[in-house]
Amino acid sequence: MPDSKMDTNGFACRVVDMKKEYVLKSETVRALRGVTFDVPEGDYVAIMGPSGSGKSTLLNMLGCLDQPTSGSLWLGADDVATMNDDQLADIRSQRIGFVFQAYNLIQQLTVVENIQVPLFYQGRSLSKAQRARSLELANMVGLGSRLDHRPTQLSGGQQQRVAIARSLVNDPYFILADEPTGNLDSRTTEEILTLFEKLNNEGRTIILVTHEDEVSKRAKRVVRLKDGRLQWDRRNSEEVRAAAAQYAIDNMPVEV
Ligand SMILES: Nc1ncnc2c1ncn2[C@@H]1O[C@H](COP(=O)(O)OP(=O)(O)OP(=O)(O)O)[C@@H](O)[C@H]1O
Ligand SMILES: [Mg+2]
Repeated sequence: MPDSKMDTNGFACRVVDMKKEYVLKSETVRALRGVTFDVPEGDYVAIMGPSGSGKSTLLNMLGCLDQPTSGSLWLGADDVATMNDDQLADIRSQRIGFVFQAYNLIQQLTVVENIQVPLFYQGRSLSKAQRARSLELANMVGLGSRLDHRPTQLSGGQQQRVAIARSLVNDPYFILADEPTGNLDSRTTEEILTLFEKLNNEGRTIILVTHEDEVSKRAKRVVRLKDGRLQWDRRNSEEVRAAAAQYAIDNMPVEV
């Protein structure tokens, strides 16, 4: 498998007729029933849909945490559907940035060490450039003065910013975020959405799952699942995005 980041043809990923079935004793659950869509580099996609519609299943596939029963998932020139477990682990550590609702930081590690975690999965000791990069990312998310703090010494928003910095340390094809603002109050949600906007404006591709309309309106595009199928796939106009950002600012609780 080539580990070069070339040959992506302008797409962060391409999903082609993806199906996922879970075979249980009594029944087979068809969680994804044939989903097709492309994510161009630089896109910002919100995945929505009712409970049980297949969002987490799709996210697990996109994150190479599990494999489709049939269909393809192209990450660059590679079809993830045909890979073995070792290859999937390589892809995860080299090409995907994960951000979770519960932050998933390692409590014993400092801010800067948490940011470096994905690099350790690559199994090499850190280069000078990688150390510099992790510091740069800590600064970028506004935690440059808290490098030696541990997660318990940080607010939820700060912890999520560490997680976002961590997601970028391997220069991924895309950031995959599962309800990234689900645990945050409205002010902190706004802080995180503003950071995503900044990263997307710099060319980062973002794919997130959300239940909240106000979050999905901030993305460039909304993909909605229903019963394991793609119900619709629409682009938000710039007017909708700007209005949602303005609404968030106007309705910010007053600080006491
Ligand atoms: N590991 C599994 N084994 C069996 N069935 C599963 C498994 N994971 C998901 N499912 C089933 O697949 C379907 C889609 O589930 P999924 O978790 O993807 O939905 P979701 O859209 O993320 O829902 P929610 O909004 O509640 O998180 C559901 O019917 C679910 O019960
Ligand atoms: Mg889910």
